[in-house]
Amino acid sequence: MRSITWGDGCLTLLDQTKLPHSIVYIECADYRRVAEAIRRLEVRGAPAIGAAAAFGLVLGAKEIAGTGGFWEKLLAIAEELRQTRPTAVNLFWAIDRMLSTASRFRPERDEVALIHALEQEALAIAEEDAAVNGRISAYGAELFEKPMAVLTHCNAGALATVAFGTALGVIREAWRQQKIVRVYADETRPLLQGARLTAWELQREGIPVTLITDNMAGWVMKRKLVQAVIVGADRIALNGDVANKIGTYSVAVLAKEHGIPFYVAAPVSTFDFTIASGEDITIEERKPDEVTTLGGVRIAPQDVEVFNPAFDVTPHYLVSGVITEHGVLRAPFDQAIKRLQVKKGGE
Ligand code: MRU
Repeated sequence: MRSITWGDGCLTLLDQTKLPHSIVYIECADYRRVAEAIRRLEVRGAPAIGAAAAFGLVLGAKEIAGTGGFWEKLLAIAEELRQTRPTAVNLFWAIDRMLSTASRFRPERDEVALIHALEQEALAIAEEDAAVNGRISAYGAELFEKPMAVLTHCNAGALATVAFGTALGVIREAWRQQKIVRVYADETRPLLQGARLTAWELQREGIPVTLITDNMAGWVMKRKLVQAVIVGADRIALNGDVANKIGTYSVAVLAKEHGIPFYVAAPVSTFDFTIASGEDITIEERKPDEVTTLGGVRIAPQDVEVFNPAFDVTPHYLVSGVITEHGVLRAPFDQAIKRLQVKKGGE
C-alpha cells in the first residue's frame, strides 16, 4: 500500500481523511489540487507532504511551460505549496531541493530538460524516503533487546511517508524480529490519526494493537503495560527539541515520570539545521471545528472559544534517542546533531 504514487503526469494520493472506512484515491492533475490535499490532510505526515509537494512542483512546471516568465511563475507555485502547512520542515526541504535542481537550468532555453530533471528529482525524493525508512527501521529495531509492548502517538507509518514509515517502520521491523509483542496506539485527538490510521495500518499487517484514548496513556504506563514509547517528528531543532503531533509532549512527560524510554524516529530531512531550539518552530493552528466536532457531529456548545494547535514541542531532555538513517542519536543532542549536519554536508 502506498499513500503516494506518480504516473502518466498525475499524482495519486490515498485519501487519508476517508480511512479506515473507505479506500479512495485522489487524482491530482494540477498543483492546486496537491496544495489543497496537503491543507485538508488528505495527504499528511511530514515525509509524505514533502514528497507530494515535490510532485506538485512538477505539475506546476508542466502547466507554466511555454507561457513565458517560467522562473517567476515556478517560484510563485513553490510559495503556494509552502503556505499549505507551516510545521513539518520536510515540506520546505523538498521544495528547496526541487528549486535547487531547477536553478541548474536556463528556463528560457531548456524548459523540457528542466521539467524532466524536476520529475526525476521528485521521484528521487520519493524513492530515497522509502530507502531511508528501511534504514531507520533497522537501527530502531536494534534498540529493543527483549520482547516488549510499546506506545505510539499519531501515525508515523507507511501512510505518513512514501513507504514503511518511521516510528511504525521501527515497530514493524522489531515485531518481525519478535522484539515487540503489542502496540498501544493513542487515538490522537482531534483528528484521530491513531484510531483511524495507525490502528488500521497495524491491524492490516497482523501486528497486535490496542487502541486507547489519549488520556489513558498515563494509566497504561502506571500499570506497566508498555516498556517504551516511539513516535515520529515534524521538525527537530539543533538542540534536539522535537515538534510532533499535539499530545506528544504529554506522552514524553508521562514516560519520564514512569522511567520509560521515549524514542523519536525521523529522517535527516526532518532536522531543521537553521533553528537553535523548539522555540523557533512555527506551530500550526487549525480550525475550531476539528475540536468542536467528532466525526462530523458537534459535541461542544456553539461559539465556545477553542485552542487547536496541531503540534507541540517536546524538549530534548525528555528524549531518550532519535533514530535516524545514520544511526541513533543520543544526548548531548546538540553535539550529535552537529555531527549529523557535518556528515550530511560531506555527502
Ligand atoms: O497533522 P499530521 O497528521 O500531518 O501530523 C503527523 C505527525 O505528527 C507525524 O507524527 C509526523 O509527521 C511524522 S510522520 C513520519
